[in-house]
Amino acid sequence: MDIRLLRSSDLPLIQHANLENLPENYFMKYYLYHALSWPQLSYVAVDVSRPKKTPYDYPKIVGYVLAKMEEEPADGIQHGHITSLSVMRTHRKLGIAEKLMRQSQLAMVETFGAQYVSLHVRVSNKAAIHLYSKTLGFDREKIEEKYYADGEDAHCMKLDLSSIK
Ligand code: ACO
Repeated sequence: MDIRLLRSSDLPLIQHANLENLPENYFMKYYLYHALSWPQLSYVAVDVSRPKKTPYDYPKIVGYVLAKMEEEPADGIQHGHITSLSVMRTHRKLGIAEKLMRQSQLAMVETFGAQYVSLHVRVSNKAAIHLYSKTLGFDREKIEEKYYADGEDAHCMKLDLSSIK
């Protein structure tokens, strides 16, 4: 498995993975906005073991993290934000999401001097909540009621990145 920076040419596959894995979906221009504005922060996991069937075959993308910096932080503190993270069902519980997140967090600090990273996650999403709070050490800041289009609440989570510096 390779973890590498997202390229603009990956975006159709990322959009496909997002549609497969999450109800929060975006127009292509929103993916492009991330890739062009913060090319250092978004990563993909590529299954390099998959055999090439034709010279035009491309490696399979099995996971991605789409991340950005907050452009006008309300608290005045430079920080990153995880817009979307997902791993294909066939490749879950192999540590891919953890690796994608750690790469992005490191780049937020090294490239932009981020002091923390934030994200939203559905209150029912046990797998992601385990990853964020137990594996990566995020804190639950507050609940945002009816954050999602279907009325579900979100945990707003935050990870202090000062230990990375
Ligand atoms: N239930 C409980 N714990 C789980 C589960 C699960 N279903 N899946 C993974 N974990 C735990 C692992 O055991 C591991 O814990 P450990 O560090 O204590 O050993 C930890 O989470 C990290 O596991 P990874 O293998 O790195 O996670 P994975 O690659 O399987 O991806 C993810 C986790 C991204 C949540 C995946 O299940 C997924 O794509 N789900 C659908 C999309 C989604 O929910 N994305 C997050 C939305 S929030 C957002 O995008 C900001």
